[in-house]
Amino acid sequence: MKIPVLREIELFFRGLKKYKFVKLFQLKPIDLGYYTMNLGPAIDQKHLEKCKVYANRFMPLELVPKNTICAEIGVAYGEYSDEILKIVNPKELHMIDLYSWGDFWGRDYFKSSGKNHYEWIKDKYKDDERVKIKKGLSFEVLEQYPDEYFDYVYVDGGHDYETVKKDIEVLLRKIKNNGIIAFNDYTYFSVNENMEYGVERAVNEMLYNSNHEVIAYAMALSHMNDIVIRVHK
Ligand SMILES: C[S@@+](CC[C@H](N)C(=O)[O-])C[C@H]1O[C@@H](n2cnc3c(N)ncnc32)[C@H](O)[C@@H]1O
Repeated sequence: MKIPVLREIELFFRGLKKYKFVKLFQLKPIDLGYYTMNLGPAIDQKHLEKCKVYANRFMPLELVPKNTICAEIGVAYGEYSDEILKIVNPKELHMIDLYSWGDFWGRDYFKSSGKNHYEWIKDKYKDDERVKIKKGLSFEVLEQYPDEYFDYVYVDGGHDYETVKKDIEVLLRKIKNNGIIAFNDYTYFSVNENMEYGVERAVNEMLYNSNHEVIAYAMALSHMNDIVIRVHK
């Protein structure tokens, strides 16, 4: 046996190696994820005492006060934005996205309209004065707002640990005390994309040693669940 293979096996058993090893032995990545991913701290029961479980990710929007200042990080085609606009009827909805992707999820909305992502979203919401479209990296765009600005933010942009961690660090300053931050895809692994997600770890670290409360947990297919947190500063 060659030395590099021995090294792979050693790292595997030490729990340090990620799913590169999976491909070598054709294991299901989720199996290896259990052994090697840094999952962060577990959630303490004290954060969950007021948590309500919902059947889908739209229902917790009933917890968001109406006519408030809201934001969505990661907008895509604006499908969750449409629900925020309908259910919460916000005073302002800041829709933050890179707006630099091509069509995704098997759609051809941009291609068939001859517009890029940014132009398509601008056009979709051109008559809605509540909507403010902001293009750029989530945590950089968020820095442009005053502290304590938002009542509610839905986070569904970058799903890697470093990005979610940076989003949280800025959001904890930009959200009002008692404001609400909801995270989509609260998991450590996407079975749909066969890749590691950092949302669960970043969120659990945010809760750790804090007074924040989990007020909702929303189920989704493939276990890409939402977690909704009331921030207590
Ligand atoms: C999963 S989609 C959002 C889906 C949308 N929230 C919904 O529920 O319909 C992710 C979006 O996040 C955007 N995105 C990814 N990383 C980002 C980042 N770091 N900053 C801003 N937007 C980002 C992508 O351009 C994409 O439109």
